[in-house]
Amino acid sequence: MLQAALARRSHSSVTEDAPSREELLPLIAAASRVADHSNLRPWRLVEIRDEGRDKLAKALGKADGSKKPSTKPYRSTLIIAVVASRQKSKVPEWEQDATASGVAHMLSLLLDEAGWGVFWRTGDLTRKKAVRKAHGLKRNEELLGWLYIGGIKEKYLGGRGKRPVDPTKFISSI
Ligand SMILES: Cc1cc2nc3c(=O)[nH]c(=O)nc-3n(C[C@H](O)[C@H](O)[C@H](O)COP(=O)(O)O)c2cc1C
Repeated sequence: MLQAALARRSHSSVTEDAPSREELLPLIAAASRVADHSNLRPWRLVEIRDEGRDKLAKALGKADGSKKPSTKPYRSTLIIAVVASRQKSKVPEWEQDATASGVAHMLSLLLDEAGWGVFWRTGDLTRKKAVRKAHGLKRNEELLGWLYIGGIKEKYLGGRGKRPVDPTKFISSI
């Protein structure tokens, strides 16, 4: 785990290879083990491939006011949209969003460890009506962005993560 975290890095550009649904499921199951106050499971994932990318391309084009579909979804064969799905509960929304975000981070790490390239992208368009509609978001849901997933390009194979921060600068006591 320590080595996987230290070695993780984002891949903004990936090959067309992608994990299958079957390969994803155990990773999603493992990612679901992040801390989750009251076990609300306040998240869900939307798998976007093939025509799903066309649908997303159209929605992004519409949302940014251009007439043409966006080319962005074609940067990887597989995109997983991460949805914060806030449940009615005494648990505040921010705690639920922290869990949803945790799932995305954990899934990214697990995919990286399994040898896949991942890049988390977001932006203002996640809040636009056309984009929300394309993902079937309900009123209690927000899009936290998309994990673009693919094969790691040859020049990055066997590479290492970035130099970690100096941990002593990020911890204090009271
Ligand atoms: C919630 C979230 C959203 C992000 N959105 C974008 C984005 O839209 N565009 C972008 O270039 N990087 C975005 N990033 C940053 C990249 O995913 C990546 O973390 C960054 O390039 C640093 O690379 P590293 O993960 O290897 O340190 C986002 C990261 C997070 C956590």
